[in-house]
Amino acid sequence: MVEMGAGARTGSVAAGGFTVIDRHPPAPDVLAAVREGLARRPRQLPAWLLYDRRGSELFAEICRQPEYTLTATELELLRRHAAALCAGCSPGTLVVEFGAGSVEKVSPLLQALAAPAYLAVDISASALQEVGQRLQAAHPTVPMLGLCADYGDLPDLPLPADWATRPRLGFFPGSSLGNFDPAEACRFLAALRPLLGERGQLLIGIDQPRDPTALEAAYDDGAGVSAAFALNLLQRLRLELGADVDPGGFRYRATWEADHSRVAMALVSVGPQRLRLADLEVVFADGEPLITEYSYKYTPAAFLALAAQAGWSGVDRRCDDADGFSVHRLQPAAAAPDCSASAV
Ligand code: AVJ
Repeated sequence: MVEMGAGARTGSVAAGGFTVIDRHPPAPDVLAAVREGLARRPRQLPAWLLYDRRGSELFAEICRQPEYTLTATELELLRRHAAALCAGCSPGTLVVEFGAGSVEKVSPLLQALAAPAYLAVDISASALQEVGQRLQAAHPTVPMLGLCADYGDLPDLPLPADWATRPRLGFFPGSSLGNFDPAEACRFLAALRPLLGERGQLLIGIDQPRDPTALEAAYDDGAGVSAAFALNLLQRLRLELGADVDPGGFRYRATWEADHSRVAMALVSVGPQRLRLADLEVVFADGEPLITEYSYKYTPAAFLALAAQAGWSGVDRRCDDADGFSVHRLQPAAAAPDCSASAV
């Protein structure tokens, strides 16, 4: 059993040699987030809500769809450039992965580092357990821990005492930064600075604006997995929060919005209808969207400008031949973060 600091408020579960510390938002907080999102215009649910057990399975399946090229491209970059990307790291580095949906991405890093340790942060306890157990089996000598939490709201890392002095390498793959709007993204990156420390570094995968047809296909694949992923959100509202809503009353849509440099993913109401949840009654007009998530895309220059506002400077970037996806290596900049200017 892992010893945690005085700040730990919830339990931990160990299985297959992998321990998960549970700091998932409690049900009332989930309901509050849904309530807040449904009151917005357009209505929008938090992206982390997509990842219950089924949602995490569906997302893993999205990553295997031929239209969704991000995963394979990034994996290839990490495998090819792991040594260079880890070059500035001291022995004993703790890799902190934000959103740990994949065994494959972090493995080249764990191999390239000397005597590393690994902390996986993910909102889905089931995905963490599964990925963690497989990773621990693949890297039996690497100390590992899971933290089930919303990484967008992480005040500190509940680390065992003997881990606290390790230098830290943040790892945020998949272009998941794109789920935040630019101002949120700046605040998230700025918050990583104290979390990773002054000797800390950050490896982050960023997808670029590309051909709109290819992008829309990536987010609305022919097999319908992206649609099922979004529609699962309504199932979750039904099963977990007791919502009264007809998932058949919505169809999925993914749209490239060039003005915002983002893909907007939405469930669009087919005809007028009502959604009831706790004491709420939300009326959807015919054609009204419920945004399930945004995926913002950044050119390398736009991303580095955002990172600079958040107090990070780029020291390396590896990209594919088509230059559609980049893995950046960042270090704390001399200047303090200032997110007041970050809007697209
Ligand atoms: C996990 C946020 C990186 O934006 O590409 C993919 C999510 N949703 N297809 C992305 C997603 C539907 C994905 N991220």
